[in-house]
Amino acid sequence: MTKTCTFLGIESSCDDTAAAVVRGGGGSAEILSSVVFGQSGLHAHYGGVVPEIAARAHAEKLDIAVEMALGEAQVGLDDLDGIGVTAGPGLIGGVMSGVMCARGLAAASGLPLVAVNHLAGHALTPRLTDDLAFPYLLLLISGGHCQFLVVSGPDEFARLGGTIDDAPGEAFDKTAKLLGLAEASGPAVEAAARGGDAVRFALPRPLLDRRGCDMSFSGLKTAVVRERDMLVAQNGGLTRQDQSDLSAAFQAAVRDVLAEKSRRAAVEFRKVCPSGGAFAVAGGVAANMAVRGELETVADAASLRFVAPPLALCTDNGAMIAWAAIEQHRAGLRSDPNFAARPRWPLDRLSAPMLGAGKKGAKA
Ligand code: KG4
Ligand code: ZN
Repeated sequence: MTKTCTFLGIESSCDDTAAAVVRGGGGSAEILSSVVFGQSGLHAHYGGVVPEIAARAHAEKLDIAVEMALGEAQVGLDDLDGIGVTAGPGLIGGVMSGVMCARGLAAASGLPLVAVNHLAGHALTPRLTDDLAFPYLLLLISGGHCQFLVVSGPDEFARLGGTIDDAPGEAFDKTAKLLGLAEASGPAVEAAARGGDAVRFALPRPLLDRRGCDMSFSGLKTAVVRERDMLVAQNGGLTRQDQSDLSAAFQAAVRDVLAEKSRRAAVEFRKVCPSGGAFAVAGGVAANMAVRGELETVADAASLRFVAPPLALCTDNGAMIAWAAIEQHRAGLRSDPNFAARPRWPLDRLSAPMLGAGKKGAKA
């Protein structure tokens, strides 16, 4: 297929309601529109995403997001070649809202509907933003996901390893909360770490003693609790310097774990791709400059091109779903018309599922 395709993409698997129109294929890609409605204000009070609230908010916002995406792209349903929708993994109520919305649009327009795995959306994004050939090594690090994948085709993914408990973004968010930073988020920890002494506290580097590429971040969070409690017992609270030093120590530990596991993943990747190739990162934590800088160094040392999409395309969005649908549609892959919304959906059909459920729902 040489002709470019224009697809609408719909995403609602967690706490972002998103729709986008992407045109692409055959070496080109253009995002004609991308609309994202976040829900953080709705969940802030509860300390995590509440599935029922998320599903209701998606149901209220999906039609508006789709209308806006089509309007901004200046296309109608008649101009589209298909619709892609996240069919999992994620919070099932939200996924179902998106699937029902997409089914309605597909039935009314007669357009083909592609059931997209949310993780495939993240994993294929580097090909939307950069001229990148298969295969490549991908590290997906966000609030709900953490895995190394060898991406060999639009629907060919091999997982080399992943977290056995928390995702790194989740650990960043919890650390911010534990330290009482102004905002419970990764960027707040990164900002606090700037003036910090990363070696004042000796935090562990979990699972480095275990072979392979699996990771763990929950023990690190417990170590932060221990240091914090000790400071509180000794001094009655944390000074700003304590907050900075603990943030710096935590960030350095995450950075070191991700870097060492990336070195090992690069060795594995070389077995399937002896020369050339790239190391791509995706997900919100890839925005962290300390992490990003170290991963770039690992890529250079392994003679891999380093690719990091812009932040708006690292975090959840509809364009990645439209793009994954285009890639899969152009490769001749067709979804079962009766596909179901799935809370869990491992990308790599051959690997055992990873267990654990983060604040953003089940990990696949
Ligand atoms: O990819 P994303 O928007 O959503 C999903 O989880 O799918 O990632 C959000 C996560 C949050 O946990 C957020 O705190 C973290 O990425 N994050 C960061 C930074 N920016 C976002 N973590 C560390 N440093 C950052 N600069
Ligand atoms: Zn995601």
